[in-house]
Amino acid sequence: MGAVLGPVWARAGHAVTFRYARSADKLARLADETGGAHAPVSQAVQQAEAILLSVHWSRIDDVLSQAGDLAGKLVLNCCVPLDEANETLVLGPYTSGAEELARMRPQARWVS
Ligand SMILES: NC(=O)c1ccc[n+]([C@@H]2O[C@H](COP(=O)([O-])OP(=O)(O)OC[C@H]3O[C@@H](n4cnc5c(N)ncnc54)[C@H](OP(=O)(O)O)[C@@H]3O)[C@@H](O)[C@H]2O)c1
Repeated sequence: MGAVLGPVWARAGHAVTFRYARSADKLARLADETGGAHAPVSQAVQQAEAILLSVHWSRIDDVLSQAGDLAGKLVLNCCVPLDEANETLVLGPYTSGAEELARMRPQARWVS
């Protein structure tokens, strides 16, 4: 999702920073292709006007711990709370990924 939306937004004139993958080469390639940048999560978050959160649900705790409190930040979330096999929702029916994220980082401004 990030590797697709980031370049689209860069073509639309936004300055895009890529962060969070296992491969630094992938982030560098995306940055090169888009004229964007790659940076540590905490630095990318501090500088960002808006953040796309697009990781597998199993990575949420890790990426949020790197991101900090996200106070006042606009975060666009597209993550679906699925198990490792991407077959079964791990949350619900009385809550949702969006609600859990808002609970975990209440000071962020969430759009899901
Ligand atoms: N709302 C929607 O319409 C919609 C549609 C599709 C997907 N989704 C959701 O969007 C999210 C992202 O989907 P996606 O297909 O873009 O996921 P993805 O390509 O599998 O992973 C997204 C990013 O997370 C990184 N990542 C995965 N495991 C990691 C780890 N252990 N350590 C560090 N980085 C790791 C990946 O890095 P690597 O490049 O190193 O793998 C990649 O950069 C998921 O939650 C999915 O359910 C939503």
